[in-house]
Amino acid sequence: MPNKKRMTAFYCRECGYESSRWVGQCPACHAWNTMVEAPVRESGGTARTIARGGTARAGIGLSEGRTRPVSLSEVDDAQSERWPSGYGELDRVLGGGIVRGAMVLVGGDPGIGKSTLLLQVTRNLASAGHSVLYVSGEESLQQIKLRARRIGDVPESLKFLCETDLDTISEILLSDRPEICVIDSIQTMYNSSVDSAPGSVSQVRETTGVLMRLAKEQGITFFLIGHVTKEGTVAGPRVLEHMVDTVLYFEGDRYASYRIIRGVKNRFGSTNEIGVFEMRGEGLQEVKNPSEFMLSGRPEGASGSVVSCTVDGTRAMLIEVQALVCPTNFGYPKRQATGTDYNRVSLLMAVLEKRLGIPLSSYDAYVNLAGGIRQTEPALDLGISLAVLSSFRNRPIGDRTVAFGEVGLSGEVRMVSMADIRVQEAAKLGFTTCILPASNLKGVKKPEGMELVGVRSLKEAADLTQ
Ligand code: TYD
Ligand code: MG
Repeated sequence: MPNKKRMTAFYCRECGYESSRWVGQCPACHAWNTMVEAPVRESGGTARTIARGGTARAGIGLSEGRTRPVSLSEVDDAQSERWPSGYGELDRVLGGGIVRGAMVLVGGDPGIGKSTLLLQVTRNLASAGHSVLYVSGEESLQQIKLRARRIGDVPESLKFLCETDLDTISEILLSDRPEICVIDSIQTMYNSSVDSAPGSVSQVRETTGVLMRLAKEQGITFFLIGHVTKEGTVAGPRVLEHMVDTVLYFEGDRYASYRIIRGVKNRFGSTNEIGVFEMRGEGLQEVKNPSEFMLSGRPEGASGSVVSCTVDGTRAMLIEVQALVCPTNFGYPKRQATGTDYNRVSLLMAVLEKRLGIPLSSYDAYVNLAGGIRQTEPALDLGISLAVLSSFRNRPIGDRTVAFGEVGLSGEVRMVSMADIRVQEAAKLGFTTCILPASNLKGVKKPEGMELVGVRSLKEAADLTQ
């Protein structure tokens, strides 16, 4: 019987959601006008590749070209070998180094520093004796050389290739067999077996599928660079998230020099870890003490400035929360949140109004996380509320005070995770008072010279900082 299966489907450019018919709004990510038509992939090609990949990693099955069920004791774990990238900040996000045969997607806005980071990492790997191929579809060799000149010496063993044709790249990979390969960027690569233009959803997915097979069968580690696209016809890296082993996003403020690399998916380690870098004239440098970096330039004795502490993975970071509260000139009060969740800020202001009787509805309020950092952890609630309160009262909160805790709708201050790490981080940076949820007190070891003040409600915290 002829196969009457549909030959095309619609994919969301933003998140890769697949639908059999066109819809105006993506049901998965709610973006408008992002569905594009593309041919359906051949009978689950990717799924099969990944299943085979599993056995390739286990070191059995592939040579015969078929798979068979095995017990875990038959699986040799020799391949869980990890290579250091030369940057502790990146290794932590990767779960302890680079895994052989892994496929790592590095996403980020154009110009944020993805090529620079990968050039520096591959330079380190090549210097450590690994064979590395850097494939660029975006820049000429001259442009790459200019960048390389800024970051210092690049060893001979690091090879570059300017190419966008996937067949040529595959051939070279099969003959040269490098241990590590960078694809800069996946959106410029072209697979002649797919009809659509480079950067389209189907091109990006098919190309990744082919590279995935190379990664698993040949044990080549891939770093795929993907530009985050706001709008337009180019598929974003989110389309690939489910295919690859590890997804890292490189973020930061265009106007600030720090860059954060955040793990959002990791088959070889925990997610939520972050690494901090600074973009300098001579490339990216690790920031080993980000709290210090974030607090530099903090005003002393200013109202509306409160230091809080967030945790990503195992990394605590002190952040300055700034608030400016002033009377509304025209009937409707203005609210603005930069770097944090707008709705959360509005909610906290409603709690302050209702539970503490602060008449914020006739005041404009601007809340900002200093340094251009983005963070939405609920543990910031107490810091945000106290910063608003401090600005409203026009009374500063002690320079050596740090505050964290989640605020509930009844104005209660709720427990947060990893309180101890936060307190130790504050102590390390010389803070002497820490306002934290009372329910967290039990789990915290008191550092020397630090006063721990447990609060049960926002009211208690407000009275403390009169
Ligand atoms: P790049 O790595 O090309 O970004 P991406 O690959 O994510 O598009 O980095 C681009 C920016 O970084 C560019 O604006 C210049 C800046 N930069 C520095 O400030 N210092 C440096 O040493 C390098 C190499 C780049
Ligand atoms: Mg680039």
